[in-house]
Amino acid sequence: MRDDHIISAKQLSRSDIEAVLDRAAEIADDPGAVADSKDGELLGLLFFEPSTRTKMSFTTAMKRLGGDTVDMGSVESSSVKKGESLADTVRVIEGYADALVLRHPSEGSAKLASDFVDVPVINAGDGAGQHPTQTLLDLYTIRENAGFDDLTIGIMGDLKYGRTVHSLAHALTNFDASQHFISPESLRLPRSVRYDLHEAGAQVREHTDLEDVLGTLDVLYVTRIQRERFPDENEYRQVAGEYRIDTELLERANDDLTVMHPLPRVDEIAPDVDGTEYATYFEQAHNGVPVRMALLEELL
Ligand code: NCD
Repeated sequence: MRDDHIISAKQLSRSDIEAVLDRAAEIADDPGAVADSKDGELLGLLFFEPSTRTKMSFTTAMKRLGGDTVDMGSVESSSVKKGESLADTVRVIEGYADALVLRHPSEGSAKLASDFVDVPVINAGDGAGQHPTQTLLDLYTIRENAGFDDLTIGIMGDLKYGRTVHSLAHALTNFDASQHFISPESLRLPRSVRYDLHEAGAQVREHTDLEDVLGTLDVLYVTRIQRERFPDENEYRQVAGEYRIDTELLERANDDLTVMHPLPRVDEIAPDVDGTEYATYFEQAHNGVPVRMALLEELL
């Protein structure tokens, strides 16, 4: 890894990514072979937004490596409620932990935190910005199920506010991937992300209709409409429920299509898809543990 802090997928080179994915695959194949390499080390968890998978899989990963976690707890029960700044909070908690995992509603918050501390900061989601460790487990899942050779992927849903999308799209520019972006007009990729993708050599192909590309896809990455980020609830209502994947729609897909979702889902994927060969989202969530173990081994 070129940097100690993991702030954005933009900092990850192909070799950085492959090193984490290779090690994660070794760990997944033989979990018993992992030494208690982080015995006595502590990972600080600072979650200013809700989390199930990210927080629990970091906790599981750290404990499986022989280490432990210290958790700030909810915003309501911490001094953040008294008006403490993020800079002060992280400067205090760096004295308690060997690395910090931060999720925060403000874009740029992980970068800001990293400017104030010496221990590694891992961005577990900064507003509508980035979510680089989700990307590592997404890439792991793609590699396991579809491979990167001649990959055609559709990324669908809330491309405007979806931080997992921003990170994944950028990381995929390291690979031989053809990316299609499917969303309502109002939830297109932000201009800054489109610019970055162009700069990285990617072709940005945008669609409003999934059926334009469904039959060509190896992977379909579905995302939730990020209701909490809409400035106006009416705007959310206009797009809510616009895209929904079900088994009937998937009859028009490749037989070996891999359907992914970072989860939580609301109604983007009908439950009838869960029992099909397409459904890979629960496996994807489980992959968070070996991938985060591999990352923590390297960072700490
Ligand atoms: C995602 C997130 O927090 O950005 N969740 C996750 O970490 N798996 C996706 C989402 O909340 O929609």
